[in-house]
Amino acid sequence: MSKAGKMNKVTTSVVRDMKNKGEKITMLTAYDFSTAAIMDEAGIDMILIGDSLGMVVLGYDSTLPVTMEDIIHHTRAVSRAATRALVVGDMPFMSYQASTEEGIRNAGRIMKEGGAHAVKLEGGQEVAELTHKIATAGIPVMAHLGLTPQSVHQLGGYKVQGKDNETARRITEDAKILEEAGAFAIVLECVPAALARDITQSLAIPTIGIGAGVYCDGQVLVVNDMLGMFEKFTPKFVKKYATLNVNMKEAIGRYVTEVKESSFPGDEHSF
Ligand code: KIV
Repeated sequence: MSKAGKMNKVTTSVVRDMKNKGEKITMLTAYDFSTAAIMDEAGIDMILIGDSLGMVVLGYDSTLPVTMEDIIHHTRAVSRAATRALVVGDMPFMSYQASTEEGIRNAGRIMKEGGAHAVKLEGGQEVAELTHKIATAGIPVMAHLGLTPQSVHQLGGYKVQGKDNETARRITEDAKILEEAGAFAIVLECVPAALARDITQSLAIPTIGIGAGVYCDGQVLVVNDMLGMFEKFTPKFVKKYATLNVNMKEAIGRYVTEVKESSFPGDEHSF
């Protein structure tokens, strides 16, 4: 993170400038005020209230059950904490697929009610018109290609995308179309590193990779994964920067013991 970066608010033009200067862009998910405040203080460039919320916070098996109300509720909490980072609210499953009009209205709700600075939505050329209309309404759009978890049943599972020439060509074409439609950045999820590199080089807007190798303009991870708080499964692309599950279990275990044996609260915690 540059010194100037720490002081300046991150905007869509800042992330574009970062791409032009070859400065890597950092993004993490957050769903609550305390975590977002720590991230903002640590210098993260963008915070995503991802629909991964459904799996790591709400305990669903997929992102599909997440509602607009869930996203708005958690986006509000994150927006209150972010003083520097660009806040991106994810558009949940079926908040934009049924009609363009509904998609524009829901994007507007994430901005107005959630306080986000941008929205993210999954899909290729089928969402180009919607992307264009949302962007024209003054709402920055982050696109999302490759493994798009809202289509998990159509994709046949959480699999790497773009391994064969035909799918690689389609993802590359989709990226160009979404850039032309007005997206300010594109998440590339679970695609081969060489494909992500070629797409990154072919676009003027930044790519943000997750399981897409080192050549993307930036990286994103789910915070519960990278802090080691989500124990159900760990995708190959996750690096655990902490093992908070261990720390939390140890701390909570000590608390349980101390309360049981009446060594907490001590005099210093009592009035
Ligand atoms: O929902 C989410 O957290 C996401 C990221 C993995 C990009 O879409």
